[in-house]
Amino acid sequence: MAETLEELKRACESCLKCPLGKTRTNLVFGTGNENAQIMFVGEGPGEQEDLQGLPFVGKSGQLFDLYASLIDLDRTKNIYIANMVKCRPPHNRDPKPEETEMCLPYLREQVRLLRPQIIVCLGRIAAQRLISPDFRVTKQHGEFFKKGSVYMMGTFHPAALLRDPEKKKSALEDFRRLREKIEELSINIY
Ligand code: URA
Repeated sequence: MAETLEELKRACESCLKCPLGKTRTNLVFGTGNENAQIMFVGEGPGEQEDLQGLPFVGKSGQLFDLYASLIDLDRTKNIYIANMVKCRPPHNRDPKPEETEMCLPYLREQVRLLRPQIIVCLGRIAAQRLISPDFRVTKQHGEFFKKGSVYMMGTFHPAALLRDPEKKKSALEDFRRLREKIEELSINIY
């Protein structure tokens, strides 16, 4: 078992357990403050992420950063961002269940090393695997579920908000609830 995120990242860099390892340009391990109490988990890298080796740096990432900033969250300061799969699925297709399963031990290790108090799932793929297989984003977004010692919440994937701007109001409400939870748990984000 890795003792640091850096060590875990090195293990991921040589991973070829699933076919996505062969087609990636870069591994997208995760980014943010390694002492963050709040973690976000997306689906998988897109084109820009694959090219830059960083999560959520394309159009969806810009929207994500904006929503985070509204509640004083910032990837350079107080959150950590990762994905269900660390290599880009070709043509931005959904990761296959077997790819997600192969990659999941790495995400679990990341969570073990980070020990966040809150995990926010961005979109259905993360929420159904990490919160509950029958999770419905449209119905259960913004609700907190306690799993062990971690509070988990699912919200819309930023790409879904770009496709359907009518969902933006609900997503903003989810971020407001997240802010309330941060305060309730007395998490220091400053
Ligand atoms: N979509 C995701 O789910 N993750 C990223 O890193 C980028 C886009």
